[in-house]
Amino acid sequence: MELRHLRYFVAVAEEKNFTRAAARLHIAQPPLSRQIQQLEQTLGVALFEKGSRPLRLTEAGQFFLTHARPLLEQVRDLKAMTQRVGQRQRNLSLGFVASTLYGELPDIVRHFRERHPEVDVTLHEMTTVEQIKALKEGRIDVGFGRLKSEDPSIRRILLREERMVVALFPGHRLAGGTGGVRLTELVHEKLLVYPKAPRPSFADQVLAMFSDANLRPDAVAEVRELQIAMGLVAAGQGIAIVPESVQAMHHRNVVYRRVDDKHAFSPILFSVRHMDHSQELENLLASVHTIYEELGIPHVKESL
Ligand code: BEZ
Repeated sequence: MELRHLRYFVAVAEEKNFTRAAARLHIAQPPLSRQIQQLEQTLGVALFEKGSRPLRLTEAGQFFLTHARPLLEQVRDLKAMTQRVGQRQRNLSLGFVASTLYGELPDIVRHFRERHPEVDVTLHEMTTVEQIKALKEGRIDVGFGRLKSEDPSIRRILLREERMVVALFPGHRLAGGTGGVRLTELVHEKLLVYPKAPRPSFADQVLAMFSDANLRPDAVAEVRELQIAMGLVAAGQGIAIVPESVQAMHHRNVVYRRVDDKHAFSPILFSVRHMDHSQELENLLASVHTIYEELGIPHVKESL
């Protein structure tokens, strides 16, 4: 069985018609029919119900389609990813979620640039979900994100678990206290979560934190991005739960308190294409560890 058979089969199954599938594949209909017959002979089962118009898949055909589609997608991704690895000479393209700009990202990039001035570094703000897509399409080489999404083409390395804090308007009843705030004290507040799209996102991480603690906020408002959430907090329109590094974004009308809960942590993940062991990535990871060690930040030390 060749990849060609999978491509042909998926086209026929999606078009439910040999003529349309042949046109989509830019081949004539007789060779397409022969290839499908060959495939059915190799598998020893019928994939389409005989004589059906429009074409209907058998149970085996449906099963084959479900598995063939992701295989073809992986082949497409493999092409783009390999081209990127081959073309990447002296540049490294980084995707990052906005909140990491307030954490160690600037120091890490500066450290890397000083040691490797020959490498051209470009930075692109994008959500974790967008980073996975961009890695697979060869648009970035590494993503700094926060969501533990599963994808067989992507390798994720946990860098550290960052504590969450709650951002409050200074006049808020909880703003004056010292020490941490418990999640139970926050459930009756209007909770601002971001980003609204694409999902899943940091918004879902915050909501999961409540559900993991068997709590449900009374009111949730989804907003486009971190900066909007913080502006609305400053305007007294709600509270927001953010990683503690966001405190570096000094806002005149926002105060922060630590959230005391075992679930109140957000991971920082280094995502790369599986098996991409390039020297640039090794060097970037080394810069991350150096900065953590210089600043005394607890972290996980895993290599590529
Ligand atoms: C951090 O804040 O730990 C971090 C941010 C971006 C890249 C790597 C680490």
